[in-house]
Amino acid sequence: MDQYAVFGHPIAHSRSPEIHAWFAAQTHQDLEYRAILAPLDDFEGCARAFFAAGGCGANVTVPFKLDALVFCDQLSQRARLAGAVNTLWKDAQGQIHGDNTDGIGLVRDITQQLGVSLAGKKVLLLGAGGAARGAIEPLLKAGVRHLTIANRTLSKAQQLITLFHGVESPAGRQACSWEGLAGEQFDLVVNATSASLQGELPPLPEGLLGPQSMAYDMMYAAQPTPFMRWAQQQGATRVADGLGMLIEQAAEAFFLWRGVRPPTAEIRSLLRRQL
Ligand code: ATR
Repeated sequence: MDQYAVFGHPIAHSRSPEIHAWFAAQTHQDLEYRAILAPLDDFEGCARAFFAAGGCGANVTVPFKLDALVFCDQLSQRARLAGAVNTLWKDAQGQIHGDNTDGIGLVRDITQQLGVSLAGKKVLLLGAGGAARGAIEPLLKAGVRHLTIANRTLSKAQQLITLFHGVESPAGRQACSWEGLAGEQFDLVVNATSASLQGELPPLPEGLLGPQSMAYDMMYAAQPTPFMRWAQQQGATRVADGLGMLIEQAAEAFFLWRGVRPPTAEIRSLLRRQL
């Protein structure tokens, strides 16, 4: 049977085996998908052994997305721009390909599952780490009117603006500090900082969100995250966490591997009930 896996450390918490088993069942694809705890100092050896034993494809999660970038023989444009790889597969010639489906997962969740168009929208991306970087090209390609990247360390946001300068899109772009956001309002605010992991919230000024705005946290949890609670207090009526992004990035990986797009609505409510 075709073998797939997710590599991470830790990995026991990963929802990917359940998601992909569900996709496979729904689309009648004969495959096995398991979680592999790769040693912190040897992602390469572990991934090489998996593919040498006949593995067809894999997902890569924290902390190996950069190791995976180096591991690949061929990189997609979006993986190169994201600076990280979350999806690997081996072709018929034995070449390992790397892609990044995180950003498109975010955009698909917002536009298709949550039904919010990004075309012509003014968007604020909070954070300038790996998670933020993966979202930039897909957001620009989704037709946003303006993209602001704000970060605790302003220079990192500025570097990202420079890095994505060449991506073709009419969208205006700017880097900003938290304070510099004062007086602005956005159609969509995406939290790509890891502040929620520590139960924290960036010190954001009032007024960033109006009643029609959407707030999206890339993190997800059983309870609303601090960012989601802040957005609700600010009057946003459309507030979402990143569970849908997790599922949509997996669906895109599944499509790359199998050429079939799995349905995602049902697994979404299934996983939500298990949180
Ligand atoms: P990830 O891969 O999750 O993006 P990362 O690359 O370490 O992780 O990036 C973490 C991001 O969250 C950065 O933008 C970081 O801000 P700095 O660049 O200033 O370090 C941001 N971040 C982390 N903790 C934060 C906090 N408590 N408040 C605000 N921003 C925070």
